[in-house]
Order: sequence, then C-alpha cells, then structure tokens
Amino acid sequence: MDKFVIRGGNKLKGSVIISGAKNGVLAIMPATMLAPGTYTLENVPNLRDVWTMSQLFFDLGIHCELTNNQMFIDTTNIKSYEAPYEHVKKMRASFYVLGPLVGRFGRAKVSLPGGCAWGPRPVDLHLKGLEKLGTEISIEGGYVIAKANKLIGTQIHLDVPSVGATGNIMMAAVLAKGTTIISNAAIEPEITALAKFLVKMGAKIYGIGTNLLEIEGVDELHPTNEVIIPDRIEAGTFLIAGAITESKITIENCNPYHLTAIIAKLEEAGCELEVYNDKIQITAEEPPKPVDVTTAVYPGFPTDMQSQWVAYMLKSNGVARITETIYPDRFKHVPELQRMGAQIEMSDNTAIVYGGKKLSGAIVMGSDLRGSAALLLGALIADGESEILRVYHIDRGYETIDKKLKQLGADIERVQTDFY
Ligand code: EPZ
Repeated sequence: MDKFVIRGGNKLKGSVIISGAKNGVLAIMPATMLAPGTYTLENVPNLRDVWTMSQLFFDLGIHCELTNNQMFIDTTNIKSYEAPYEHVKKMRASFYVLGPLVGRFGRAKVSLPGGCAWGPRPVDLHLKGLEKLGTEISIEGGYVIAKANKLIGTQIHLDVPSVGATGNIMMAAVLAKGTTIISNAAIEPEITALAKFLVKMGAKIYGIGTNLLEIEGVDELHPTNEVIIPDRIEAGTFLIAGAITESKITIENCNPYHLTAIIAKLEEAGCELEVYNDKIQITAEEPPKPVDVTTAVYPGFPTDMQSQWVAYMLKSNGVARITETIYPDRFKHVPELQRMGAQIEMSDNTAIVYGGKKLSGAIVMGSDLRGSAALLLGALIADGESEILRVYHIDRGYETIDKKLKQLGADIERVQTDFY
C-alpha cells in the first residue's frame, strides 16, 4: 500500500499532459469481444482499473497487453463467459462484459457489482434492457446468469440516462436481429466514443451523440483500432489544482468541448481560462468567489467532479452549496476534509461549504477515487504536512498523479507503507 505525503502552500507552474479517459477505455475494451481478432488502442492510461479489466480479459481467454500507453488485444480465443466476483468487486465497470458476451455468444455469468441488483448503484436498467432484447436473466448466488438464443431488436427506454446501461445494451444490440431504439440514452463523451468505435467495427448506429440511439443489428463485426479520448475528469481535476493553488498552468491533450460545465464554473469563480483546440491555460490570482454547483448528467456539471469542487470552495471567500443529484451519498470526502479543519455542513445531498478557513495538514484516508482526489487538492493548500492513505483509490483513475503534480511544482512524495 502507498501513501502520499504532501506539504501544502506551493504554487504550481508549467504544463501537464492529460492521459486517455479511464471511462473511455473501460467501455471500449469489452467492445473488442464482439468480433474475434486483434485490436490496437492508443492513448490508453496506465491505471489500476485498466489492469483489473486486463486481468478479467485474461480469465476470459483474451490476450491483452499494455506498453507505453498502447494496448494490444487479441479476442480470437475467448474461452470463458464468466466475470468472477474477484474482478467485479474491485471494479464495477467489469459489468460491461455482460452485453458483449450475451450479444456475441448468447450466454454470460457475471458477478453483480457490490450490493444487490436493485440496491445502491443498481444494475436494473442493464438487466431490463437485455431482457427486452430477449435475454433470459436469473440471479443466482450473487451472479447474473444470462442466456439468449438470438437477440431481437426492440424499443428500450431508460428511466435514468445510465452510462453503463446505455453501453451494455448498445453492445448487446449491435449483433441483434432487427433494429433497437434506446431512448433517454446517456450522452457522456465516453458513450459517444464507444458508439463511434462500434461503427468502426461495422456496427450500424444512428443518432450518435444524442439521447435517442437507433441500432440496426448486423450479422458480424470486425476488429479495428482506436485512439482513446482524453480524460475529461483528470483534466477538470488538474484545472482545479491550478485554481486552488492560485497558479497559472496549462493542461495539454484535453478536449475542451467535454469540459464546458467545468470551464463555465471556473470562470464564474473568477479564474481566467484561455481555451485552445486541445489545451487550456488557467490563471487564478486570488481566492475564488463562492459558486454553487448541482451535479447533472452530461453536459451538466459531472458528479465525478463534485468532490473536487467541494475542496476548491474551501478556498473561497464565502459560502457555496454543492448538491449531488446522481449519487446522493457521494460525500465520504467531507469528514476527511473536516479533519483538515474544513467547515462543511451537510444537508441531505448538499454540502454547504464555508470557505476562507485555513486548512491544516492531517493524516486522512481515501475511500473512493474522486473523494481521494479532493483530499489531495485540500492537502495542496493546507498548512504543513498531510498524509493521504490508501492511494490505490487514486491510482485507479489517475495515471501517476503524484509525478504530474510534482512536475508542476507541488511538494508531494509517494511513500510505501506496510499498512493501509
Ligand atoms: C459511470 O458509472 C462512470 N463509470 C462513473 O464514473 C460515473 O460517476 C457515472 O457513470 C455517472 O456519470 C464508468 O464509466 C466506468 P450510471 P455508471 O449507470 O455507468 C442509476 C468515476 O469516478 N442507475 O450512469 O455505473 C445509478 O444508481 C466513476 O470514474 C440505476 O438506477 O453510472 C446512478 O444514480 C464513478 N439503474 C445513476 O443511474 C441502473 O441499472 C447513474 O449511474 C444503472 C444506474
């Protein structure tokens, strides 16, 4: 286990290169199961979650290797249709293999993610969509057992524009007989990128980028290659790192069109942003104005940036209200930030942040990916030394974030520990 030791107070300068999107590659990797053959993916981030998916691929009989952000995949000899609990418990995105396995082989045994199908972070929309396509679904011993002779295209409406459900259903429908309509589909950039990848494989998908997807089933698909889109959440996190330390930094290899909500809120807070085609320069010369945020599905303010915005508003000279509408209980970072002296009150799914109080370094513990990123941001502005334990959470979704921050001038060290 590693921990980060950070001494706050440094300003940042220079530029940082954003890695490929975690949630982009975690959707595209399963799509390669839909056609046997070899694939090359570029700009793949070297992350724990990518390693987890690669381990699952190995168990399925898929050859997968990642070298210098280039991934080589060979799906010629898939020999298993089971995604065991040991992988799915580590990473919910493993559930993405359900759609392709059912779509191509008509069978799958995939562990339910943590909790039951209908509990916190449910998968009911995934299962209902596959059932509507003609899949026989049963739940046995914490596993989804899926069987289908031939999937038949149909109309599927999603009660919630679920990213995962849209991806899983789309990957099952591309080889179905007939046409499938997914209404109220997610339009996150990672889903749009998945649809474009499937079209490059020979799928017929219309309405890409909209919440009404029309998928005309085809008999077979073929391998292709792809460049993974930049990670908009990593980009947003580094923009806030520049803002919270009142610095001037440039983030490169990003896609500003995927960051419109975050850019708007940073400008509202008083930051100056110069936006180019694939980079953004941010300048912050004083504490931010308090800016309220309510998370929403894309293109709204992303839930994956909520905890980072809570940390940022600690620097403001007023009171900001941050409301979480996607995962109402996604506030595990609040008590840890309070250990640093943050004044935050919780009211249902809203964090009321009283800015302007000096934070002091403390030993804090990460418990989820984006919450841990918020602790890191707090530590960058805290007086004295902080330790962030269980940084494996951060390593799940941020490629060498300590090296990138150090290169920008932050005082951060990764230290190996025997515990936590
Ligand atoms: C994806 O998770 C992302 N993960 C999450 O990013 C992100 O927070 C989330 O989308 C929302 O944008 C990946 O792409 C691997 P959802 P996913 O299905 O697909 C409800 C990160 O930090 N829902 O869009 O699991 C659900 O309870 C991670 O990178 C159902 O009700 O999210 C939630 O309230 C964390 N039934 C809402 O939809 C279902 O069957 C959004 O969930 C599925 C979802």
